[in-house]
Amino acid sequence: MPDTADSDAFIAGLPKAELHLHIEGSLEPEQMFAFARRNRIQIPFASVEQLRAAYSFTQLQDFLDIYYQGADVLRTEEDFHDLALAYFTRAHADGVVHAEIFFDPQTHTDRGLPFGVAADGLLAGMKTAEERFGITSKLILCFLRHLDEAAAFATLQAAEPWLDRIAAVGLDSSEVGHPPEKFARVFAAAGAAGLKRVAHAGEEGPPAYVLEALDLLHIDRLDHGNRALESPELVTRLARSGIALTVCPLSNLKLCVVGDVAQHPIPAMLKHGLRATINSDDPAYFGGYVADNYRAVAPYLDRRDLVTLARNSFLGSFLPDDAVTRHLAAVDAFAA
Ligand code: HPA
Ligand code: ZN
Repeated sequence: MPDTADSDAFIAGLPKAELHLHIEGSLEPEQMFAFARRNRIQIPFASVEQLRAAYSFTQLQDFLDIYYQGADVLRTEEDFHDLALAYFTRAHADGVVHAEIFFDPQTHTDRGLPFGVAADGLLAGMKTAEERFGITSKLILCFLRHLDEAAAFATLQAAEPWLDRIAAVGLDSSEVGHPPEKFARVFAAAGAAGLKRVAHAGEEGPPAYVLEALDLLHIDRLDHGNRALESPELVTRLARSGIALTVCPLSNLKLCVVGDVAQHPIPAMLKHGLRATINSDDPAYFGGYVADNYRAVAPYLDRRDLVTLARNSFLGSFLPDDAVTRHLAAVDAFAA
């Protein structure tokens, strides 16, 4: 790579889409305290510093425990609107022109909020962001895989009045012990309702979970997918299919999916011809937004790879073809 300042500016300026972002994971400690104050809720941390100090994880579950606890400060549509707008403000500064964001409705309905509080608040925040920054976005409803199939079906039913404003269903939370197969029927129902399908697989779970996500959930995009690299047959299949992988370097480091950034699989994924993309996952918890994630792996890539990653983000999006073509032209113009 050329020098760091030059590379930083190139990364921030590169037009890009973000395809793997849990909006609840963009809740910054300062904002958590502000929402707690506004909603008159006690949180079990004395200061922002003490809260940040708790963000030390050795596996996915350590993070999930604190992430679900943090989400409890979100109580009103205004909270969700403000949460989304704060994310889009940071994403805009990082060159994001389109984002497809996850939300976890069960985290909110299970503590008594009606489905529409999160959904309407987020949709309002997405609209404000488009008016203010020109960023387009789509909303993805994630089922929590540690809960059962009936709960996922109940969530899909609760979402019925909003399905024209929801692009896809996803699958997140504790992966190991909760294989994709558990949700085959609810994913089939979502597909029949016209929704796209994505799933977290191969973050901590084995390559067999990636296969199940492909064959039983019929996913249109694979979230993480790191452990697919353990199976040469799977790598060949993923490369041939052109399916996008939404990879999250800083998340992988924080959750110890990868021991060292020098071992991060992004360069190998590109070498194998996989349609890999770079994303931030839960930026408030993992130490960086999308440009920081590009910067983390940039020392192991050349400038052409960075352009490929940005192009992949649009090719892997659920945007219509004409919009994809327009964004690809903008990437190429920037790179030239
Ligand atoms: N993995 C699984 N579930 C999640 C994640 C993740 O990285 N972030 C938020 N929910
Ligand atoms: Zn994720």
